[in-house]
Amino acid sequence: MANLQTKYMGIPLANPLVVGACSLTAHMDAIKKIEEHGAGALVIQSLFEEQIQLERYRHDEDLVMYDDWHAEMTNIFPEKEHSGPEEHLMWVRKAKEAVGIPVIASLNAVNPDSWVEWAQKLAETGVDGLELNFYAMPVHFDQTAQDIEQSQVETLRKVVDKVKLPVAVKLSPYYTSPLEFMKKLDATGVNGFVLFNRLFPPSFDIDKETANFPFNLSHSSDHRLALRFVGLLADNVKASLCASNGIHSGKDAIDVLLAGADAFQTVSSLYQNSVDHIQTILKEIEDWMQRKGYSSLEDFRGKLSVENTPDRWTYRRAQYVRMLLRSDEYIKRPKLV
Ligand SMILES: Cc1cc2nc3c(=O)[nH]c(=O)nc-3n(C[C@H](O)[C@H](O)[C@H](O)COP(=O)(O)O)c2cc1C
Repeated sequence: MANLQTKYMGIPLANPLVVGACSLTAHMDAIKKIEEHGAGALVIQSLFEEQIQLERYRHDEDLVMYDDWHAEMTNIFPEKEHSGPEEHLMWVRKAKEAVGIPVIASLNAVNPDSWVEWAQKLAETGVDGLELNFYAMPVHFDQTAQDIEQSQVETLRKVVDKVKLPVAVKLSPYYTSPLEFMKKLDATGVNGFVLFNRLFPPSFDIDKETANFPFNLSHSSDHRLALRFVGLLADNVKASLCASNGIHSGKDAIDVLLAGADAFQTVSSLYQNSVDHIQTILKEIEDWMQRKGYSSLEDFRGKLSVENTPDRWTYRRAQYVRMLLRSDEYIKRPKLV
């Protein structure tokens, strides 16, 4: 049988499949099923700034300063069993005790002080690692990219310095120069990058003419964005790489492993199928490895990263030029009638 063992953020995992933060990991029956079906690790649903500030929100008529509320939060909050921050800490502790696989806590704060204070509190629950979800939504015209990036680097540095646990940072793909920014984050000593978060763009109910928050699941092809950046970062940063967003099948997982990922997260695939889809994905990876004669992930991990791919154009703009010049080979023409 193929050996799927890996290390993510320095934590040994039986396999690279990590169930990402979501409402499934806020429930005891679901986390037990996640373990039973063989996940390598799980990330607990985030503790959100809104929970930390909940009391203040309740007494605050003017929510303008919080108009960048996380869509993940507004969408999911009513379902949560454990709403306050102290209850969340209790839940994280209980979850860690309930399963044998590595458990990672997730923090999605906004205020600089909340990041450090709650990262420390989450670290004290006994979890194996911490994931910081940098879900920043720029809504102010006078806020520069440099302001945002500098504050994120500083926040990460403070958390990494204070917390004696492996720390990963989960990023949005929307940075002007992601590689330069990730290099700066890497220099803080962070242990992992989760690439990428799935953002919740606004949506409208056109009959009521109001905003609504539809469930925002990914599609398999979405993982190609993570594939690009994992491929570019592999062997170029010290932190380990966890691909996320659009990994629905064994083939998607193999793609990101070939690009150089140490692990991958999946969420939408479990909502679309069920938690036992974990087994399907793992089986597909094993079958492929067997077909290829690979006995461990090390035999093929990063084989198609920018450093190793035999096709030096894989990660470049020339792909696009190739498509335009040889469009008959690459592009199916749509029917004209
Ligand atoms: C229902 C739902 C709840 C989520 N809750 C969180 C959360 O609490 N914290 C977080 O960092 N990401 C959260 N996410 C994002 C996922 O962890 C993941 O990054 C994203 O869904 C992309 O992976 P996927 O394509 O496998 O779904 C949530 C996603 C979904 C669909």
